[in-house]
Amino acid sequence: MKTIIRPAATPTQQHDKRAANVDNRLHAEYGTSYGRIKGEGVDTTHGAILYLEDITVSFDGFKALNNLNLDISVGELRCIIGPNGAGKTTMMDVITGKTRPTSGTAYFGQTMDLTKMAEYEISHAGIGRKFQRPTVFEQHTVLENLELAMKMNKRVKPTLFFRLSSEQKDKIDDILRLIRLNGQEKRLAGLLSHGQKQWLEIGMLLMQEPQLILLDEPVAGMSDAETVRTAELLNELRGKHSIMVVEHDMAFVTEIARDGKVTVLHEGSVLAEGKMHEVQADDRVIEVYLGR
Ligand SMILES: Nc1ncnc2c1ncn2[C@@H]1O[C@H](COP(=O)(O)OP(=O)(O)OP(=O)(O)O)[C@@H](O)[C@H]1O
Ligand SMILES: [Mg+2]
Repeated sequence: MKTIIRPAATPTQQHDKRAANVDNRLHAEYGTSYGRIKGEGVDTTHGAILYLEDITVSFDGFKALNNLNLDISVGELRCIIGPNGAGKTTMMDVITGKTRPTSGTAYFGQTMDLTKMAEYEISHAGIGRKFQRPTVFEQHTVLENLELAMKMNKRVKPTLFFRLSSEQKDKIDDILRLIRLNGQEKRLAGLLSHGQKQWLEIGMLLMQEPQLILLDEPVAGMSDAETVRTAELLNELRGKHSIMVVEHDMAFVTEIARDGKVTVLHEGSVLAEGKMHEVQADDRVIEVYLGR
């Protein structure tokens, strides 16, 4: 009889296995397959997934960000509010490597210095961003869009003849249900409503298994019903990913912030931080943003 000798697992394989165990536990706990709060490569031993320290971004002398300090904990859903021009989008540009800060540090976990990484490296490291305008492939079906997103996930090994494993099919089904597009997987994405396109894009983001998700004004342009549905969707994602949401719609923010922290940005720095009812009662926040 032939004896098969397996090579010992390499450190990376062991690491992957540990990461997979975390994801499996998550699956057992939540009964879904799209969550990912921890994974290989990102050291979150001190509990935070993102650290921004003294970030300044100057555009020809104008400081879009001015000594900004902000941390996000693992699994947290953080809402960011603040007036137009406060620097919210610029902050996301810094986190995703689109804009380099003039000074300051930005870390993903303990060890990854985002200011020294290219945009694609940051996205591969596990930070996913959704811009305001949906960018789905309109000529493709809902299902094809999710499959394309899966192929772009570097955690999925490319094969010559791409065929979905049962695990991948389960994951797509879970995500279709989450984004309320189950039963519509054969529809062309171009025929979806604005809100449905936004959800599809969130689904595509989830296919790439990001650990930190950045959403810039996810409900802008949505109907009231779509906005309510998006709040439900985000509440379902709570605890399964670390999420940062920028929004102006206060009813929506109240709905998803719950008891968590809300950060108010103003003129490039943090003006206030606390529970929603606390920042809403803060005189400075009322003065510059919420109004009396
Ligand atoms: N590339 C750039 N060059 C020059 N100024 C810029 C650039 N990008 C942003 N700004 C300026 O930086 C400031 C912050 O802009 P930012 O888009 O981050 O604000 P915001 O908080 O996202 O606002 P909104 O709520 O309107 O989306 C604004 O005054 C903006 O005009
Ligand atoms: Mg903005």
